[in-house]
Amino acid sequence: MERDVIGYGYNADHARFLGFVPGATTALSWLGDVIAAGYNRHAGSFANYPAGCVAEEGVLSWFCERAGLPAGTAGGLFVSGGSMANLTALAAARDAVLGEGGWERGVAYVSEQTHSSVAKGLHVIGVPRDHVRVVPCDDAFRMDVAALERAVAADEAAGLRPFVAVATAGTTNTGSVDPLREVARVCRAHGLWMHVDGAFGASVLLTRHRGMLDGVELADSLSWDAHKWLFQTYSCGMVLVRDRAHLVSTYAAHPEYLRDLEEGGATNPWDLGPELTRPARGLKLWFTLQTMGSEGLAAAVEHGFDLARWAQDEAERTRDVEVVSPAQMAMVNFRFAPAGLSPEGCDALNAEVSRRMCEGGYAAVFTTELRGRRCLRICAIHPEATEADMRGVVRGLRAICDEVLAP
Ligand SMILES: Cc1ncc(COP(=O)(O)O)c(C=O)c1O
Repeated sequence: MERDVIGYGYNADHARFLGFVPGATTALSWLGDVIAAGYNRHAGSFANYPAGCVAEEGVLSWFCERAGLPAGTAGGLFVSGGSMANLTALAAARDAVLGEGGWERGVAYVSEQTHSSVAKGLHVIGVPRDHVRVVPCDDAFRMDVAALERAVAADEAAGLRPFVAVATAGTTNTGSVDPLREVARVCRAHGLWMHVDGAFGASVLLTRHRGMLDGVELADSLSWDAHKWLFQTYSCGMVLVRDRAHLVSTYAAHPEYLRDLEEGGATNPWDLGPELTRPARGLKLWFTLQTMGSEGLAAAVEHGFDLARWAQDEAERTRDVEVVSPAQMAMVNFRFAPAGLSPEGCDALNAEVSRRMCEGGYAAVFTTELRGRRCLRICAIHPEATEADMRGVVRGLRAICDEVLAP
């Protein structure tokens, strides 16, 4: 049984796979995939694949509405995932603020907890590494907005041009949400594009916890990854923008050999992002929404909040455990810190506990680093995971900890 859970490599779709953002998938998504892959229609333009493009556009408008982006101008594109969503938005931000010239003066702002894909995206669009400011976070791992504003002002005074600030709604390590409304205020005051990386956490907008993302409606762009907390198969991410015209001006190319397919004046998916040939990635999400309904999806997302709380509750009852970051969204971080063991010794202990848990195959719990120390990170979103699973995992980690510490 245990070998089946992990086998060779990791099954990120298992209820006790608690690493990165698990790939918990609904079978409805597979069905949508089968349709998209089976017909293999080129979903770059409406003329090629009206059904797929119309379904995608409808779903994108629905998600824009959930995010509070303005009807009429807002829109977006399905891309392969969070990394591509971030990259797609960052290029639009650069063009919108810096125009064709002056790229060399552009400066971008991220936080200590911003996902690594943003740094990659900034590199790809030509922002030198010394023009990326890493803003510190507060005790709850949220961007310190006063520090952001100071950094922006200092760069302006130095003759540089701050052009984008990236806030996160649901950080990868801790599920924290940057103060979105405050970040928006700074962006508006200094003429920056506000990008929100909600690859993981934007799904909370479907739930009764949506108030956690207050201010997201002020974003210029938003990444929202359906292969994370919307239970889709890889690859299915969305980039949503406040004004779709920005994507068009960055990406529309109109090559001569495709003009016949551009009749009717539609804005085609190939005008909105870097890809020309693309599958209708959004079809499976359309299929899922039609079948589960938004209430079904909301209930599945809310379950993740419960899972993380159960894990935290069990951790708090467990000997020698220090909760490093309490349950936020579906994330919780803790570490074994027995009295008398040095911080470095605790780092090694937690790494070994994680390694043995994964090797044993009962569950996958990896480590991350917070405040310079290793801890055990749980991200739990699987709709079939139970309270017993969460408590069982924490007890299992404790049992392994005892084994490691045994003389
Ligand atoms: C907040 C955030 N942004 C971006 C990404 C990258 O998404 P992807 O792996 O789909 O490219 C992740 C991945 O976990 C993430 O958590």
